[in-house]
Amino acid sequence: MTGICDGRVVVVTGAGRGLGRAHALAFAAEGARVVVNDLGVGLDGTPDPDSPARLVAEEIRAAGGEALAHGGDIATSDGAASLVRAALETYGRLDTLVNNAGFLRDRMLVNLAEDDWDAVMRVHLKGHFLPLQHAAAHWRTETKAGRTPQARIVNTSSGAGLLGSVGQGNYSAAKAGIVGLTLVAAAELARYGVQVNAIAPAARTRMTERAFADTMAAPSDGFDAMAPENVSPLVVWLGSEASAGVTGRVFEAEGGRITVMEGWRPGPTADRSARWTPAEAGETARKLLGEAETPAPVYGA
Ligand SMILES: NC(=O)c1ccc[n+]([C@@H]2O[C@H](COP(=O)([O-])OP(=O)(O)OC[C@H]3O[C@@H](n4cnc5c(N)ncnc54)[C@H](O)[C@@H]3O)[C@@H](O)[C@H]2O)c1
Repeated sequence: MTGICDGRVVVVTGAGRGLGRAHALAFAAEGARVVVNDLGVGLDGTPDPDSPARLVAEEIRAAGGEALAHGGDIATSDGAASLVRAALETYGRLDTLVNNAGFLRDRMLVNLAEDDWDAVMRVHLKGHFLPLQHAAAHWRTETKAGRTPQARIVNTSSGAGLLGSVGQGNYSAAKAGIVGLTLVAAAELARYGVQVNAIAPAARTRMTERAFADTMAAPSDGFDAMAPENVSPLVVWLGSEASAGVTGRVFEAEGGRITVMEGWRPGPTADRSARWTPAEAGETARKLLGEAETPAPVYGA
């Protein structure tokens, strides 16, 4: 197979199902050799006897591509290290990391158990940080040896992380954290030839089929706007050499739509070069709010 990822080696976490599976197949269709990671857990992160990574790797090979299955937990240092090692030992290189694995534990904040907070932070935040760190350590070694790579990381945030989502306080906080991680990683890793971007996708997967049942039905004919395969072309481009110069950005991708998300920036400001009293600070804050743009609504509010 030939395409815009010809010769590249791509790792996709959580690629046994949903969006990750679609990304893995799309990278392979563009010529990449793919390491398909998936621990195979249920919708809430509890163990599941399936081995979806193996099935996706077999699907890629059946279509004439090259793929390797990896069943480790990317939120552990051993799992993340062995994932990067699998790419290097099997294919001799690593070019692109797509951090995608995750699950939900949705509750209203007053009912959210500590374990549901920890599990969601762990899989999304630590599950992005650890593979990123192990991959970055390899790319730093390459750069120091005089072989600066054209490396790419694509992280997975969410509209919940960008705008907030009722019933998803843990998930929204984790996905907002992934945006912060993306910005820092883009700034820190540029010297090692690494570009880091994030997507906020929307697609029909097992994660969303209940929440959006009414809006997400597959059409009987024509364009299936909620198919996960619609998100993957942007991810493949971000993971290829063709995206040179693009780093530290967040894109929403859904159906046929791609949007550059524009983040926090200073709005109306007042500076009196002296300390305010609380009453003065309040009066000034209200005046500035009157001049500022109204924030987009929180999902589900
Ligand atoms: N589907 C959407 O509309 C949507 C919207 C916004 C963000 N996202 C994000 O996209 C990503 C993919 O979601 P999806 O909708 O395809 O869900 P999904 O449940 O279909 O797929 C997620 C996969 O991650 C795997 N996984 C979970 N924990 C893991 C771990 N510790 N190590 C390795 N693999 C693990 C699961 O086994 C599963 O196969 C997630 O990060 C999700 O938060 C999805």
